[in-house]
Amino acid sequence: MVKNDWNTEFYDEKHSYVFKFGEDVLNLLSAKPGEVILDLGCGTGHLTKLIARSGAVVYGIDSSIKMIGQARLKYPDIKFEHMYATNFTFKNKFDAVFSNAVLHWITEKEKVAECAYNCLKRGGRFVAEFGGKDNVKCIVTSIRKILEGNGYSQNTEFIDWYFPSIGEYSSILEKHGFRVTSAFHFDRDTFMDEGVDVINWLEMFAKQIFEGINTGKKSELIGLIKEDLSSTNKKDGKWFIDYKRLRIAAVKE
Ligand code: BEZ
Repeated sequence: MVKNDWNTEFYDEKHSYVFKFGEDVLNLLSAKPGEVILDLGCGTGHLTKLIARSGAVVYGIDSSIKMIGQARLKYPDIKFEHMYATNFTFKNKFDAVFSNAVLHWITEKEKVAECAYNCLKRGGRFVAEFGGKDNVKCIVTSIRKILEGNGYSQNTEFIDWYFPSIGEYSSILEKHGFRVTSAFHFDRDTFMDEGVDVINWLEMFAKQIFEGINTGKKSELIGLIKEDLSSTNKKDGKWFIDYKRLRIAAVKE
């Protein structure tokens, strides 16, 4: 199953908070001039460009050909490659691997940790932020409830995002030879822009869950989810997403 066939324009215009918040993680990365850094799951390259501004040499990789195409067009001076986070290798080693808002898409988390470890120099840093335990919990609960209540229980198996706790993810990194140097798990309720609501979020990020359901039925189900979420994810008439982030840094021992 293709997890997401990204609409790159929509992603940049309506969901730009995804990479805007990513700018905070760049402080934790603290890239230095001359360092060689890998941006794992670079999307359309917004953060890759900011890393490059620090004077580091950056490579961006992403599993979406569309995203990579867009990134190459926007930032022709940066090297972008179509590669998977579960299966990447480079001849030369990196000083740091950076990743923002990507790892919750990948259930094969052991492979990611292994590839990241193998491509780092000794003492190299792994710095990532993604959905932590109970991320978008209200949304997940509502999707399940509506699917199950309307005869689509089988589609709940497509809800396979990976949202680990600090303990869980630290153990994975440690198992692969990293030493975890910092970890935070924090709430980040995020208000959506004017004219955008939870339907846009579901259309952008939860498409795969409705696989095999015809367009009319899918709209109906999404409408029911929206109605259900209006009691938990709406404040003063504005929609918000109940994000919980895991921000973690580790070094290769
Ligand atoms: C997130 O950024 O937390 C997220 C994005 C898409 C689906 C689920 C979670």
